[in-house]
Amino acid sequence: MFGKRFLFVMTVMLLAAQVFTGCAAPAPAPSGGQAAPAGGEAAAPASGGKLEVFSWWTSGGEAAALQALFDAYSAQYPDVEIINATVAGGGGSAARGVLQTRLAGGDVPDTWQVHPGFELIGQYVEPGYVEPVTDLYEAEGWNDVVPEALRTMMTKDGEIYQVTVGVHRGNGFWYNKQLLADNGIEVGDTLSVDEFIAIADQLKAAGVTPLCVGDSGIWATAQLFENTLLGAIGPEAYNGLWDGSTRFDDPGVKQAMETYGKMLEYQNEDHSALSWDQAVKKLMEGGCAFNSMGDWAYGEFVNAGLTDNVEFGWVSHPGTAGSFMIVADGFPIGKGSANPENARNWLKVIGSKEAQEAFNPLKGSICARTDCDRAKFGVYHNWSMDSFANDALVPSVVHGSAAPADFQQALNDAVTVFVVDKNVDAFANALVAAAQSSGFGK
Ligand code: GAL
Repeated sequence: MFGKRFLFVMTVMLLAAQVFTGCAAPAPAPSGGQAAPAGGEAAAPASGGKLEVFSWWTSGGEAAALQALFDAYSAQYPDVEIINATVAGGGGSAARGVLQTRLAGGDVPDTWQVHPGFELIGQYVEPGYVEPVTDLYEAEGWNDVVPEALRTMMTKDGEIYQVTVGVHRGNGFWYNKQLLADNGIEVGDTLSVDEFIAIADQLKAAGVTPLCVGDSGIWATAQLFENTLLGAIGPEAYNGLWDGSTRFDDPGVKQAMETYGKMLEYQNEDHSALSWDQAVKKLMEGGCAFNSMGDWAYGEFVNAGLTDNVEFGWVSHPGTAGSFMIVADGFPIGKGSANPENARNWLKVIGSKEAQEAFNPLKGSICARTDCDRAKFGVYHNWSMDSFANDALVPSVVHGSAAPADFQQALNDAVTVFVVDKNVDAFANALVAAAQSSGFGK
């Protein structure tokens, strides 16, 4: 088990080391001397029937982006009825449990939303719930346009099990430009923790809520901690958490816990009543200044008709400039599902350049392929693509890639306790114990 966990961390570090240019780079010439076909295999004849797509994409921005994928699919397979099986709850907080129950009971969706890394391999590949799709990568030419290290995160024993449709940047820090301007505040290209605290104190004194949090799902504040942790210890030590070379009671980790506790002092009073997207909405409406969130938040801004760098701005979460927290989304084919051929065609569509160029501008993520056209993306996406190409890449534990599900749950539990008691030593000890019991902590 240790070896496998280490492999994922190494894979993400390898991603960082590769010349990996997001959506910017021209696709290398496919082997065999032929251009990669846009649609790869000839479209299978419309077979009719149904396609059940299971996800937690229910917020305004998420739903709009998902619809773009449905539209792309329906354009090629108009006779297939799409069943949009969503379970609300950001980060899959509710959906993953529902899915496990369905899978255990043999009620297998045709395809479902999944993060590569531990979530894909540990929860779906190892129990035998998904089909390999390695042949699709060959037939569609994806081995030439999907970076090898990303493919490695979706691979077990030489077989690939997922098609990734987009790569989110988890360590975003979004702000309401007008509200800051009204208070005489301008945010530069980067923001340190100290700079944020100075701004937050100024806002608080002026009666403005500095930080919007929507943690009706605990994962959102766990992510605030995850981002703060990355900022405090940096990408190398952060990656070391997942192979035991950094301990969770390291002084840097404890400092992150102190800073996280401090940040909580700046949050909105109604944080636990709001979902993540309601917190973004509150920011848009001027109810608070900043929100620490993956760039699915971007999907909410565009869905509300707002424009990059006009109504909203962004910077890396305080202290995390130079790092890109990977939160990638993809889909597998459910083994024993009712419509595997329709699911296979779904994967062919969402793996295509066209579908990814339609989906990602609405979702906030960047393409999982290296050949998307940058001109089809706005200012934020181009910034994120540059970050992906140049920055240290780190996996998210809150979104399933860095560590197994039991540790993810233990983190949520420890955060739930910490937000009440603010006991740093207890928080650190809980995470040390959880890492040990998950098998990667020392
Ligand atoms: C993440 C997922 C994103 C977004 C977010 C909030 O886990 O990767 O696509 O949906 O949750 O729901």
